[in-house]
Amino acid sequence: NMQPLERVYREIAILKKLDHRNVVKLVEVLDDPDEDGLHMAFELMTKGPVMEVPTDDPLTEDQARFYFRDVVLGTEYLHYHKIIHRDIKPSNLLLGDDGHVKIADFGVSNEFEGADALLSSTAGTPAFMAPEMISEQQQGFSGKALDVWAMGVTLFCFVFGECPFYDEYVVSLHNKIKNDPVEFPETPQVSSELKDLITKMLDKNPATRILIPEIKLHPWVTENSSNPLPLEEEHCTAVEVTDEEVQNSVKLIPSLSAVILVKSMLRKRSFSNPFECQGRRAERSMSAPGDRCSGDHLSCCCC
Ligand SMILES: *[C@@H]1O[C@H](CO)[C@@H](O)[C@H](O)[C@H]1NC(C)=O
Repeated sequence: NMQPLERVYREIAILKKLDHRNVVKLVEVLDDPDEDGLHMAFELMTKGPVMEVPTDDPLTEDQARFYFRDVVLGTEYLHYHKIIHRDIKPSNLLLGDDGHVKIADFGVSNEFEGADALLSSTAGTPAFMAPEMISEQQQGFSGKALDVWAMGVTLFCFVFGECPFYDEYVVSLHNKIKNDPVEFPETPQVSSELKDLITKMLDKNPATRILIPEIKLHPWVTENSSNPLPLEEEHCTAVEVTDEEVQNSVKLIPSLSAVILVKSMLRKRSFSNPFECQGRRAERSMSAPGDRCSGDHLSCCCC
């Protein structure tokens, strides 16, 4: 059997090869020998999260459907590769330049074997945790069903701008998640199909909770079958990794601080605010109007 470290490297090699319109691309995984843990560098999504929660300005049902369909496909793709996300929420759904949502922030060591994960540890964001994760008699629970619950909370947030269960105290929050039925606010008014879907995703019993294949066929999602989603085999292709890719999955770097500097410089460059200080900019614009610092001009990073 594989050594634990070998497993992690294999998993990282797979994560790096994931390629889907609705999943943020993992660019590199860096190991700083001076520190514990790995650093994961994801593709930069400058438009940020699809929405903030809470908000007084939630999405319309049509917008919510558009983004939710992206989330369904992205999650199906992760599950297909035996990855449970465990922290699906609006702030982890980033807008791409193509206007579609990509799922971000999937981590290492959520990979499972067989048909589904049997998880026992608690992780994630409290308001998005499924009831079975916070029950007293913690047993193993289905990983896929956890993600479906969090997608249900997310869909509720999309249209109502707030979470279905909320309390500033964790114990009360847990009690609400475990015991309270979902209540839909009076405004904004939403269709009964949408309420039906959310209710089925927020089924407190993970054994009867709706599954992704059924979500994909739900009339709210498909607009009464007029807008079907692609089948799993139409948008999921298995990722193969070679031994070499496993060996080279993590880059060892002499000093992470150098990488952080490079990253923050690249980040600044991608917002139209190159690394120039005020005086320099004025000076530059006099000598060469419109000429911006490019990556070759690292010397002008003077601030
Ligand atoms: C689906 O059909 C029902 C019943 O005919 C209708 O009330 C509803 O508006 C339709 N939903 C969509 C999203 O088209």
